[in-house]
Amino acid sequence: MIYLADTANIEELKDLFYYFPIAGVTTNPTIIGAEKKPLSLILPQIIDIVGDKRMLHVQMISNIAEDMVREAKTYKARFGLGDNFFAKIPVSKEGYRAMPMLKDAGINVTATAIFTQQQALLAARAGADWVAPYVNRLDNISSHGIEVVKHIVDNIREFKLHTKVLAASFKTVDQVHRVSMVGSHAATIGHEIIERLSSHPMTDMSLEWFERDGKDLYDIEIND
Ligand code: G3P
Repeated sequence: MIYLADTANIEELKDLFYYFPIAGVTTNPTIIGAEKKPLSLILPQIIDIVGDKRMLHVQMISNIAEDMVREAKTYKARFGLGDNFFAKIPVSKEGYRAMPMLKDAGINVTATAIFTQQQALLAARAGADWVAPYVNRLDNISSHGIEVVKHIVDNIREFKLHTKVLAASFKTVDQVHRVSMVGSHAATIGHEIIERLSSHPMTDMSLEWFERDGKDLYDIEIND
């Protein structure tokens, strides 16, 4: 499983990309809204951080398939985006219709706002490169986010689909742990949860012990 950053906060992104092997960034209108800055200002800053090797998943805000395609083409052209750009398309009826149109236009697709295995399978059949099930939002309505992710992963294996799972919507480290254990290909996670899953109090304690025990004994001069 690879890790993506589910934030448009520039300070958070700089921090995450500096320290961790983050494979890309995902955004949606809510994430952009949290920064209280327009997309035209925020996207170039995100692109600077992501570069052209890591993935950039940007959600379309249009509701009609033809408009979604126009929107995706506009972003791609305006910001000179290449194969690392993925148009995030919600699995509405128009969204399913837009997916093959985008693929025909040479634009990668991430199907988003997925809550069931059937929505994911339909999106995969419509050509989506990634499908993004919302784990915590499912858990929050007494449903089972991890089980949905597992069923989607199983379908992909069973039907030999090229689509991959980008699990999204996390509120706990345990949710991330569990989606990795059921074989999700990727997880997109906020800054706080990535910080939490990367650390452990016993690691900190062990480092303190190493420092104490090795003090004055590491006497070999380190070369430049
Ligand atoms: O990537 C989808 C994600 O942003 C939704 O997360 O935390 O709003 O449920 P959340």
